[in-house]
Amino acid sequence: MKVLFVGEIVAGAGRKTVKEVLPGLIKEHTPDLVLSNVENLSGGRGITPEKVNEMLDAGINYCTGGDHIFWERGTEDFIDSLPIVRPANYPGEVAGKGFAVIDLGSKGQILLINLMGRTSVNSTTSYLEDPFRKLDEILVLHKDIKLAATIVDFHCDYTSEKVAFGHYVDGRVTAVIGTHTHVPTADPMILPNGTFYVTDVGMTGIIDGVLGVKKENIINLFMTARNQRFEWETSGRRAFRSVLFDTEKKEITRIDKEIK
Ligand SMILES: [Fe+2]
Ligand SMILES: [Fe+2]
Repeated sequence: MKVLFVGEIVAGAGRKTVKEVLPGLIKEHTPDLVLSNVENLSGGRGITPEKVNEMLDAGINYCTGGDHIFWERGTEDFIDSLPIVRPANYPGEVAGKGFAVIDLGSKGQILLINLMGRTSVNSTTSYLEDPFRKLDEILVLHKDIKLAATIVDFHCDYTSEKVAFGHYVDGRVTAVIGTHTHVPTADPMILPNGTFYVTDVGMTGIIDGVLGVKKENIINLFMTARNQRFEWETSGRRAFRSVLFDTEKKEITRIDKEIK
């Protein structure tokens, strides 16, 4: 089985990049499943049904989320109608679902899980449930189902928490794909017990800003120590970031493209 995971699609430039690049990659690599994190899809934060559907039309089959997934007003009301998982370790009665079983017909059933790490400067992450124990709980829930693969989007800030999570689940899930930092890491690998792993797949969108935001905003933030109103960058070079893993060939590779 081949799975392509597209890095966080950031705003209009990210969506444009997916529409330009993804159909060709699908033709070239014929993945059985195409996934992407969409927490930054709409204007840099959050989702709308129209914009998620735009990405499904471009070739993405199922989506994951993160800390920004509920940014757009009314997301609670429509999230269940879309093929999307949001972090499973939100506390209490948060809308949406944290995992899903995707039926690929003759290729079997795929368990897709979204979890958020707790190491972050964003104070709300301290209210999340433990993602390590939550993963155990989700695997127990599915222990009697024959799964062709289990894929986790681990949305997290610190590389140490991501690497630790990878080793914690090594051999028990098919793949751990790290997201959130928007910066791609050069470490796609197969962990000792067989789990495909990458610390961060990176973002799809404009790379001449800071993680998708106009560089002036973020330079000011650091130089004045004052919060800034974020403006999402609309010009400059764009990148498409992704990883492809193949369970038969036992390979995981980055597929990155830059567009001037
Ligand atoms: Fe993001
Ligand atoms: Fe995030």
